[in-house]
Amino acid sequence: MKKIKLAVLASGGGTNLQAIIDKIESGKLSAEIRVVISNNSKAFALERARKHNIKDVHLSHKMFETKDKFDEKLLEILKENKIDLVVLAGYMKILSPKVIRAYKNRMINIHPALLPHFGGTGMYGIHVHEAVIKSGVKVTGVTVHLVDEIYDHGAIIIQKCVPVEDSDTPESLAERVLKVEHQLYSEAIGLFAEEKIEVKGNRVYIKK
Ligand code: GRF
Repeated sequence: MKKIKLAVLASGGGTNLQAIIDKIESGKLSAEIRVVISNNSKAFALERARKHNIKDVHLSHKMFETKDKFDEKLLEILKENKIDLVVLAGYMKILSPKVIRAYKNRMINIHPALLPHFGGTGMYGIHVHEAVIKSGVKVTGVTVHLVDEIYDHGAIIIQKCVPVEDSDTPESLAERVLKVEHQLYSEAIGLFAEEKIEVKGNRVYIKK
């Protein structure tokens, strides 16, 4: 099977990146990470890439005079690596409409809750799990979705539930949700690799 070419964009620790690398290396995901890009030079995600001989690039808005120049450079890197799918894995910067449009239906994000709930501005990291516990819901989960121009809004590809236990703290919940993320992101990438994703309006259909 053909290997889907990925660019992974990450700002932090990169445990999702690691899970994808592990799936590829175990032969369970037909993909190749061509480049890992981070806005944060100290992101451990870059270190993980280097350890696995994956090209790592530090690319920050601060390096460019204008946002446009940043976009051009990012698009150039994606193009020269012939990227099929852009994978946002804890990338903390909002990409411009120009970049998002260039990868329409070919850019995905993972969110540690069941969108459209507990998403949007301020809903990242531990804040998501704090809000989930505070709301009293009994079920949370993981969402993998297409990226469109509205934050946490694009069409949903797959979701998986995680029960909220009475004894949960935001931290304990975050830990269980993250474990599910590590499974689900590779599953979603696999669907793209197998060309099973069909997008109609704001719905994603998974071909059998
Ligand atoms: C994950 O919880 C993901 O859902 C969110 O950012 C976090 C990244 O974690 N978008 P890691 O850097 O992959 O460990």
